[in-house]
Amino acid sequence: IVAALQPKLLAGRRVLLTAGPTFEPIDPVRGITNLSSGKMGYAIARAAREAGAEVTLVSGPTALATPYGVRRVDVQTAQQMHDAVMAQVAGQDLFVAVAAVADWRVANASAQKLKKQNDADTPELHFVQNPDILATVAALPQRPYCVGFAAESENLEHYGAAKRIKKNIPLLVGNIGHQTFGRDDNALMLFDAQGHTALPRADKQTLARQLVREIARRLAA
Ligand code: CTP
Ligand code: CA
Repeated sequence: IVAALQPKLLAGRRVLLTAGPTFEPIDPVRGITNLSSGKMGYAIARAAREAGAEVTLVSGPTALATPYGVRRVDVQTAQQMHDAVMAQVAGQDLFVAVAAVADWRVANASAQKLKKQNDADTPELHFVQNPDILATVAALPQRPYCVGFAAESENLEHYGAAKRIKKNIPLLVGNIGHQTFGRDDNALMLFDAQGHTALPRADKQTLARQLVREIARRLAA
């Protein structure tokens, strides 16, 4: 009922999102990931669909059900997420980068499972930087309206404003990592060229609907 009552603020709009963590392999049975559950990104995908948008969700590994009416593309690594986004981005009106993308991948990942040798010998991992998906989309000549997320551990007001400018995007949504990862509720801080505004703590679906209203208003302007 709540969903059906949402105003169709994104009718006719095409929306692309990333959500969840990425998984960067170490060997065929091990990898590096993070504590993102995907709940916030999936809630925004659901809210965008409720608002009338055609929604594509590029998702890292999560335990969540696909929101009704949303087209979902599953990926594991940051590179795969980048490639899926670049394959879908043409013709999108809005890109919302909610995923907690691994900044680095293992350069010397093993094709075979690493085996214990002896007590002294531990494997050494080397890292290379992953592509920045949001920065790549934001640099496109025909770019969609870009919304970024930032999960910080402290000093959100300072890092949020700085990150919006560094990423060259009109809107950045900040939250505190350990107060959101895996939880059903969250609190958001919206940074745009005018300054910042808070969306106080609420369940993620409520916040997602509020955020979609904020985005739709800016998209229409
Ligand atoms: N992001 C992305 N691709 C990456 C890294 C980040 O698309 N390789 C996106 C995230 O989805 C998020 C935004 O960029 O929307 C900010 O991510 P964040 O990790 O906070 O920013 P970084 O620039 O990676 O800075 P930090 O060193 O603080 O991690
Ligand atoms: Ca990062």
